[in-house]
Amino acid sequence: MGSKPWNGVFRQATDPRVEAFTDSTGFDSRLARQDIQGSIAHAEMLARVGLLTSAECQQIIEGLDSIGREISEGRFVFRPEFEDVHMNIEAALIEKLGDTGRKLHTGRSRNDQVSTDFRLWIRTAIDILNDQLRGLQQAFVDRCEPDMDVMLPGYTHMRRAQPVLAAHYWLAYCEKFERDRQRLADCRRRVNRLPLGTAALAGTSLPIDRDFVANKLGFDGLAMNSLDASSDRDFASEFAFCLAMIAEHLSGWAEEWILWSTHEFGFLRLPQAFCTGSSIMPQKINPDVLELIRGKTARVLGNLQALLVLLKGLPLAYNRDYQEDKERVFDSYDTVVSCLEMATPLVAGVALDRERIEAGLDQGYLDATTLMEYLIRQGVPQRTAHHTVGLLVASAMRQNKTLAELAPAELQAAHPALDQRVQGILGVQQSVEAMQSVGSTGPAQVRGQLAQWHRQLAGGGQKEKK
Ligand code: ARG
Repeated sequence: MGSKPWNGVFRQATDPRVEAFTDSTGFDSRLARQDIQGSIAHAEMLARVGLLTSAECQQIIEGLDSIGREISEGRFVFRPEFEDVHMNIEAALIEKLGDTGRKLHTGRSRNDQVSTDFRLWIRTAIDILNDQLRGLQQAFVDRCEPDMDVMLPGYTHMRRAQPVLAAHYWLAYCEKFERDRQRLADCRRRVNRLPLGTAALAGTSLPIDRDFVANKLGFDGLAMNSLDASSDRDFASEFAFCLAMIAEHLSGWAEEWILWSTHEFGFLRLPQAFCTGSSIMPQKINPDVLELIRGKTARVLGNLQALLVLLKGLPLAYNRDYQEDKERVFDSYDTVVSCLEMATPLVAGVALDRERIEAGLDQGYLDATTLMEYLIRQGVPQRTAHHTVGLLVASAMRQNKTLAELAPAELQAAHPALDQRVQGILGVQQSVEAMQSVGSTGPAQVRGQLAQWHRQLAGGGQKEKK
């Protein structure tokens, strides 16, 4: 009848095809360290409440530690007939300790065990991602001082709109990745609740001490309803969403830089160490890393979708469907980590082609809005000012001139307020310098923001609230 922990009631051996079908060790062995950590805390608790003697507890801890070493050294063989990481480790313990090993599963179930392991794993994953995102933010911040004198055309609808400081551009991405860090921190609060001790679904009649285990494992508190706790995968879904948002941010950025590094744009030169060549066209230096970051976003979004569909319509409490959650989360995490590993050195290593950017700055009437706002300051209603400048832009386009190159008489004719003073406001430099609203690209605003980012990233914490 085989050696399964649950085979008492069975009168038939498991079909080997079922063993293969239900086996999850191929992926959940990734939870081995967390499983051992959780089991050690659980054993210590059992000893504390008198369900194990301290000698038994000691033996169990030593047994689990040595299994942990076997796993990390690659000497442990996961057996599919034990279904998953949890029963494999328990079976190995029983093999070592006999009856003492058979006591470890007292007052718990794999249902609360797997959720505990997964939460411990995600908690560490969040901390690693937080550090990685901080490193990426630092790479953007480090670009600001050296590029402080550079202005870029800002775009809307992928059309030239208004000029911005390059530093303002770098800091825009800091904000996006800051929100990702905040989302992860918020997700972590809900991840960090201990489900262990809710047992299969109803709790246990044994006198366990859940607070002790929570404390040992560094959880902030307990998941309070056993039916809910054993079936809750909100934490995994939220984490998958956090990862999807990071991937979304990376993908937009990658797309932008693929364009900006083209011959047609010519704003950026990508570090060659992060480009690849063509097997047939000798001249090609391709942005494959950025393309893959953009492309890999698809699987991260797909994983989130798969997870939400997986959880849809599941009745309380535990269902084996949940086993399908882990691969989706692992894949999203691995993908995003690998993308972030590429992004940070790319940001640090990219070169702005200053001459090329500057040579194009007088194209696209980037100062048209500045001229309109000048008229508004002279008391002209916004709609009238907008129309007046629109007519001037149309005329300048016909003459192939910039706004500053229009004849003084034409400007005066368009509106009496447009006298020689407009030469003191036109052009990209003056447009940027005129910006003063909070959060704008005005140099004083950008310097203030940059100082705040320096302080915040040095502290490692999150951005100060204004
Ligand atoms: N491998 C399972 C999972 O990932 C563990 C829990 C199984 N529980 C059960 N009653 N079959 O969800």
